[in-house]
Amino acid sequence: MIGADVAKAADLLGDGKLVAIPTETVYGLAANALNPDAVAEIYRVKNRPEFNPLILHIASAADAAKYVTHVPEIAQKLMDVFWPGSLSILLPKSELVPDIITAGSTHVVLRVPNHPQTLELLGQIDFPLAAPSANVSNTVSPTTAQHAEEGLGSQIEYVLEGGECTVGLESTIVAIETNGIRILREGGISQEQLLNLNGVTLRENKSTDIQSPGQLKRHYSTTKPLYIVDSISNYLEKNPNSKCSALLYTDTEVNCTSYLLSKDYNLAEIANNLFATMRKADADDTEVILIEKVKEEGIGRAVADRLRRAGSNSIG
Ligand code: TXA
Ligand code: MG
Repeated sequence: MIGADVAKAADLLGDGKLVAIPTETVYGLAANALNPDAVAEIYRVKNRPEFNPLILHIASAADAAKYVTHVPEIAQKLMDVFWPGSLSILLPKSELVPDIITAGSTHVVLRVPNHPQTLELLGQIDFPLAAPSANVSNTVSPTTAQHAEEGLGSQIEYVLEGGECTVGLESTIVAIETNGIRILREGGISQEQLLNLNGVTLRENKSTDIQSPGQLKRHYSTTKPLYIVDSISNYLEKNPNSKCSALLYTDTEVNCTSYLLSKDYNLAEIANNLFATMRKADADDTEVILIEKVKEEGIGRAVADRLRRAGSNSIG
């Protein structure tokens, strides 16, 4: 059931139930993070592999100190600038954080979501929320309450209505290093925004470093094949009989069903519309979804990452 009652959501969560909650990135499937039985339900309902840890959502940066052993200076700086917001930070966990949250890791990912209803909810409860995206694992993440209800409604009692997500892609996840930060997942806060901060330098990923175990190669999938192509019109010329839906970055004419992600290649708009448009194209009567490669700058990097994981393969 979808509703806008924050107090009801708080009561259900206090009782160990799951509630889908709005955030600025995507809807989350929330449980009391300090109640391992409630958290176990998240894994069951999402059909999520048990090795894939969950982000801890807290009310404010001041709460971080409870759940980590210490907050390095650079992490504090990131929190001051980007919280509430679409940046999640990996830090050494304190004993308060149950192992089921981190899938046994010594480190926990924290974030303060930037959404009025969910900040109000976090203010009403005295525990943090574990919340992965509110979709069954490997399906497209939800950016409206209706998406969350469609995917999980039969298994959870309540979806807290909070309108359309304003960012539309998941948060950026960073690890803190001695001499900078490392991006574990591209997302709502771009590399450029992070590098604008004084004293922040980016470290490359090495295979020996802690990784985000949830970054499976194939993810965010539509039911139909999604092809990332160099040119949609070339693809259509070569494959005149295929029934295609094209997702477009600008207002152009194509010879098949089409959906506009943006009128004029606005990357924030493209990011914001991506998941909802993938769902629409998945539900129409075509057989294949086509999209061209996106510019990998700013939030375009996160869009490219999600497309690579959704894509059946990269052709033409
Ligand atoms: O924007 C978001 O981050 C959304 C909203 C609901 O807040 N949440 C979200 O959660 O995207 P989820 O579970 O779909 O993705 C979390 C990612 C996974 O790839 C997981 O592996 C990684 O974060 N992660 C979580 N805790 C971790 C940890 N302790 N160490 C390494 N990676 C971790
Ligand atoms: Mg997810």
